[in-house]
Amino acid sequence: MSIHGKNFIDGRWVDSRTGETFESRNPANRDEVLGTFPLSNAQDVDEAVRAARKAYPAWREMSRIKRGEIFDQFVQLVRKDHEELSRLMARECGKAINESRADVTEGIHMAQYVFGAARMPAGDVLASEIAEKDAYMLRHPKGVVAAITPWNFPFAIPLWLLGPSLVEGNTVVFKPSEDTPLLGHKVVEYLERAGIPAGVLNLVQGDGERAGRPLTSHPGVDVVAFTGSYEVGSEIRRVCAESPHKFAVCEMGGKNAVIVFEDADFSIALNAAVLSAYKTTGQRCVSSGKLIVHEAIYAKFCEEFVKLSGRVTVGDPLDEKTFMGPLINEGGRKKMEFYNDLARKEGGRVLLEGGPLTGKEYGRGQFVSPFVYQMDYSPKSRVLREEVFAPNVAIVPFRSNEEAIKIYNDTDYGLALAVITEDYRKARRVREECDYGLGYVNLPSIGAEVHLPFGGVKRSGTGMPSASALIDAVTHKTAWTVNHAREIKMAQGLKARID
Ligand code: UN1
Repeated sequence: MSIHGKNFIDGRWVDSRTGETFESRNPANRDEVLGTFPLSNAQDVDEAVRAARKAYPAWREMSRIKRGEIFDQFVQLVRKDHEELSRLMARECGKAINESRADVTEGIHMAQYVFGAARMPAGDVLASEIAEKDAYMLRHPKGVVAAITPWNFPFAIPLWLLGPSLVEGNTVVFKPSEDTPLLGHKVVEYLERAGIPAGVLNLVQGDGERAGRPLTSHPGVDVVAFTGSYEVGSEIRRVCAESPHKFAVCEMGGKNAVIVFEDADFSIALNAAVLSAYKTTGQRCVSSGKLIVHEAIYAKFCEEFVKLSGRVTVGDPLDEKTFMGPLINEGGRKKMEFYNDLARKEGGRVLLEGGPLTGKEYGRGQFVSPFVYQMDYSPKSRVLREEVFAPNVAIVPFRSNEEAIKIYNDTDYGLALAVITEDYRKARRVREECDYGLGYVNLPSIGAEVHLPFGGVKRSGTGMPSASALIDAVTHKTAWTVNHAREIKMAQGLKARID
């Protein structure tokens, strides 16, 4: 079954103005076409932004609780189709079925969160120096939000961005990744069925160049909420900086790590490392391709990690036993090969030869096996600093706490870390001295929950977390002050009488 997907503009499902389309194919079987979708350009984007602007005043006036209730309805509809959506996701982005189910669940959680949050305070009551003065902080929506999302969480991340934006009273133009247009289509379909009014949520399908770029630079857009690569995110920030009113909230890459101290619970360390390195075939922005291990347990850790890595099953994402599906596309595979070669050139000692798999069952997708190597720390090493987005894993020895922290921090990214130790003092030093947005103790570097802040520092983020904390990016905090006295009384002892 292959669908004829459309854009969703002003409450209507429409083709692109040019009629051009692109295909979505199963990365585990490139012969399988999941659907065709509009290849949108600046004209389609313009219509979508206009529809969102037109719908904004009425949506903003509606009760916040009523807006939230649409997400309750959404959850009820999605729940019924949870398995079907998970299977579609496994086929569209190659994510193992268990992980695809968790992705849909994470989207449900975000919808539940904003539904509940709609009944929570919409601002603060503040004190004043003047007894007769009441002061409030009230949040105002910013207007039209452009939501540009990646392929690796094709259900959860759209909900992270759409949920808070819509419930707070913004209208949205949504552009999903061109690798997962079908799941993007589904998100909008379910929100439409849940009762989103025409124009409040608009969908434009297509690629970054033809659709993403005009969307980002459109004067009718107030906020660009983006999750994806640093290269695209920094370009979005640059474009937004040219318009005085435009705000960019970008969630970008990572070079994350698991730090294993000598006192670690060994089985927690091993499992945390395997989950961090191989879930989603190393293609989470929070995946760890750098294992920083104390020298006292280094040899044993390398041996056991390689053994476990050798047992990682690679294959059909719909097979319950599969741990790693394929990489998303040829670009992903080439990138992995480039970094595997670079690891060798930079002095890596290969422990587990990995990379592209050949053979009948792997012939129709970019299947890869784990590539694991030992690497001594050097500030010049690129493989220890750059994001690979594939199962390319360096195991790096360290001698002192200072050195572990230095090896971790020596990258332009700062998203996620895991520290494995039974010593709370060591964990605390990591907490205080490393650059990150998500820190885990005795856990993998993956597995965030929607009500926690999600975002990094340095090249990983703009310090404006997404998921529930997106509220701070899509609302403006206003101060509203009311005098109840019969005369004007001023703060700071300012004279109010005109003598
Ligand atoms: C991402 O890696 O792109 O923390 C998002 C996790 C997931 C979300 C990851 N809940 O692993």
